[in-house]
Amino acid sequence: MPLLLDEINQLKNQCLSTLTTITSLESLEQFRITFLGRQGSIAQLMPRLKELSLEEKKVVGPAMNSLKQEVQEAFDTKHAYLEKKLVEQQILKQKFFDVTAYEPHAIKGTLHPLTYIYKKVQDIFISMGYAIAYGPEVETEYYNFEALNIPEDHPARDEWDTLWLDVPGLLMRTHTSPVQIHTMEKSELPLAVIAPGRAYRHEATDATHDFMFNQIELLVIDKNISLAHLLGTIKVFFRKFFEKDDLEIRVRSSYFPFVEPGIEVDVSCPFCKEGCALCKRTCWIEIGGAGLVHPDVLRCSNIDTKKYSGFAFGFGLDRLTMLQYHINDIRLFSSGKLEFLKQF
Ligand code: FA5
Repeated sequence: MPLLLDEINQLKNQCLSTLTTITSLESLEQFRITFLGRQGSIAQLMPRLKELSLEEKKVVGPAMNSLKQEVQEAFDTKHAYLEKKLVEQQILKQKFFDVTAYEPHAIKGTLHPLTYIYKKVQDIFISMGYAIAYGPEVETEYYNFEALNIPEDHPARDEWDTLWLDVPGLLMRTHTSPVQIHTMEKSELPLAVIAPGRAYRHEATDATHDFMFNQIELLVIDKNISLAHLLGTIKVFFRKFFEKDDLEIRVRSSYFPFVEPGIEVDVSCPFCKEGCALCKRTCWIEIGGAGLVHPDVLRCSNIDTKKYSGFAFGFGLDRLTMLQYHINDIRLFSSGKLEFLKQF
C-alpha cells in the first residue's frame, strides 16, 4: 500500500485530535488556514496523487476525498459550537450588568437653562392658583388669527411673519395666544391658566430673535376682571421671580387686536439702580404684551360679555432666561454647544 495512504490517515487523526483541543474562534481560524486553506496541509497532498498508478489511485483517491470531507465537517461542527457559546456568554454578561455600579468619573447631564426657568415660572404660577394649558404647534388660521380678532385682510397679520404649511389654512403658530381660544372653548368659568410652548416666525435671526422661540401666555376669565388685576398679577409674579420686593412695573400703550386696551409691560431692572448693559442704561426691561381680552374674542368662544371679562399676557421665556443668566445670544439655546450647556 502506498506511503501516501498512511500520510492521509495520519493527517486525518492529527486534524481531528487538534480540533478537540480548540476553545476559541481565533484558534479555529488558525486551524482552517493550516489544514483546510489553499496552501494548507490537505491541499499540499493532492498533487501527489499524480505519482500513483491507476490501481493505487482507485484506493488513495477516495481516502483523500474522505479526509477533506471529514475534516471540513468536524471543522463546521466546532465552528457552530463556538459561535453559540460566544452568544451565550454575551447574554450572560448582559444579564449580570449592574446598572447601579458606581462609575467615579461619569459625566452628569444637567437641565437645559430654558427648562430651569420654565420650571421656576411654572412653580410660581401654580402657587398663585393657575392651571397649565397646552395647544398644538401646528395651528389653523382660525385659531392663530381669526378667533383672535385678526381677519384675513387685517393689517396686523403682517406683524406675525408666518410660516405657512403646504396644506391650505395650516401654519406653525406664531404665538401662544391661540391656546386662549382652545382653553375658553373647553373650560368652565372662571378660569386661570398659563400656556407655555414654542412659537415660530419667519424672520431673520439675531442675538435677540430666533425663528423658533418660547412664550408663556396667561389667561384669566372671571366676573369683574380689570386692568388692576392684570397689573397686580404681573407685579407679584416678577417680584417672586427676581426675588425683589421693590421691583416695579410700568405700562406703555400698545396694540394687539385680541385685547382692548392693549399694553406693553416693562419691569424695573432687577440688576441695577443706575442703568446697566442688560437694561441698556434705561433702568427698564421690556417683558411682553398684555391687555383685557377683547369682547369679540370672548363672544367668539360663546362667553357672555355682560357677565365675564378677562385679561391676557404673553411674554418670551427665552428673553427672560437670557436676563436671568446674563446670556447675550438667544441662538445659543438651540446651538447644542456643550461648553454653553455645561455652565448650568
Ligand atoms: C405676542 O406674541 C402676543 N401674542 C402677546 C400678547 C399675549 C399680547 C396676550 C396681548 C395679550 P409679541 O409679538 O410682542 O406679542 O411677542 C411677545 C414676546 O415674545 C416678546 O416680548 C418677546 O419676548 C417674544 N418674542 C417675539 N418674537 C420673538 C423672536 N423672534 N425671538 C425671541 N422671542 C420673541
